[in-house]
Amino acid sequence: METRSCGVRHMCTLTLLLVSVCPLCCRASWMRLGLTPTGPPEDQDQDCADVPLSPRQKDLCRKKPFLLPGVQSGARLAVSECQSQFRHERWNCSTTEDASVFGHELTSGTKETAFIYAMMAAGLVHGVTRSCSQGNMTECSCDTRLQGGGSQVEGWHWGGCSDHIQYGIWFSRKFIDNTVKNTSKTSGGYTLSTMNQHNSETGRQAIVRTMATHCRCHGVSGSCAVKTCWKTVAAFEHIGAYLKERYEHSVQVSDRSRRKVRRKDQRRLPVDTHQLIFFNKSPNYCLADRRRGVAGTRGRRCNRTSAGSDSCVLLCCGRGYNTHLVRHVQRCECKFVWCCYVHCRRCESMNDMHTCK
Ligand SMILES: *[C@@H]1O[C@H](CO)[C@@H](O)[C@H](O)[C@H]1NC(C)=O
Ligand SMILES: *[C@@H]1O[C@H](CO)[C@@H](O)[C@H](O)[C@H]1NC(C)=O
Ligand SMILES: *[C@@H]1O[C@H](CO)[C@@H](O)[C@H](O)[C@H]1NC(C)=O
Ligand SMILES: *[C@@H]1O[C@H](CO)[C@@H](O)[C@H](O)[C@H]1NC(C)=O
Repeated sequence: METRSCGVRHMCTLTLLLVSVCPLCCRASWMRLGLTPTGPPEDQDQDCADVPLSPRQKDLCRKKPFLLPGVQSGARLAVSECQSQFRHERWNCSTTEDASVFGHELTSGTKETAFIYAMMAAGLVHGVTRSCSQGNMTECSCDTRLQGGGSQVEGWHWGGCSDHIQYGIWFSRKFIDNTVKNTSKTSGGYTLSTMNQHNSETGRQAIVRTMATHCRCHGVSGSCAVKTCWKTVAAFEHIGAYLKERYEHSVQVSDRSRRKVRRKDQRRLPVDTHQLIFFNKSPNYCLADRRRGVAGTRGRRCNRTSAGSDSCVLLCCGRGYNTHLVRHVQRCECKFVWCCYVHCRRCESMNDMHTCK
């Protein structure tokens, strides 16, 4: 295989050159942090030199080493939420062992690429913001700009610790976007790099749009005469669901490098930051295609009674499915025994499981 792909020496040199120059290859690598397991706290004291970052990101990391745990937890959050949002789809956000992390989908310019970039950028904002609010960092702690505000008539005021998302957003931009280009000037269409930058920004804006307000009551025996309110980032599942919805309504734009194939249905005008953009149509993800890094849906578990994307018809692309009988052992008929333990029986049941042919 090796000798065949490098049969033409020119090609080999060209590939090496592209690999060493192409910024996407280096930029992608930080996403690998999302695949590192969560260890005990003492193992988390990682050094900026030991983590997969581009030289520019390492530099930023060395200047702000206290943010590394936040970056790491944000990356993990994003990867696991991507897999959760797509667990019933043909493309299931699976990751690879190599540096590409998400395989071909990271650079394919499809809706899936758009979703990955948006989720990773949002995860970064979320992770950094949460660690800022929890720790006692001088640079980023709580957002105090709201404090003092509120409404005396309605009996509430801003207080407590509001999440300082502006800091997280600033950091996420600096960390991910190599060069800050103005993506609203796109008369000639997008490049993969400006497309990714746009979608990363959509991810950051998702954090802004989903922020939640919490309040606590004060007053005589919980009368709620006075309330203290603060703002926090939403649970990451909400952000995942919000971006999944954006993914389903993503907009096709023109690819600057292939202007001739531009079609009428492709938008030439700048797209606002709340929409995800892509330029290539996605494959159907039905059959395994090693060249395109598609795993196919063979062997995937499907649901015979579902009408959604996990139904055996849709997930298996009409190829049909196999039925296996699987034994299921559960704790059941649990009783509380005085004092103090719970006694359960073991119950066995046989269930049908369906997998795509
Ligand atoms: C995605 O599907 C493939 C089979 O197509 C399976 O091997 C893999 O474990 C799945 N990944 C996740 C994260 O569910
Ligand atoms: C907060 O900072 C103080 C002084 O730098 C340090 O001793 C303490 O452990 C920190 N607390 C947390 C939760 O990081
Ligand atoms: C990008 O360009 C638009 C229109 O030319 C302008 O309104 C906007 O302020 C620019 N944004 C930045 C960040 O330079
Ligand atoms: C299959 O889908 C039905 C309908 O959506 C749902 O009620 C059921 O729990 C699903 N079964 C499994 C095993 O996920």
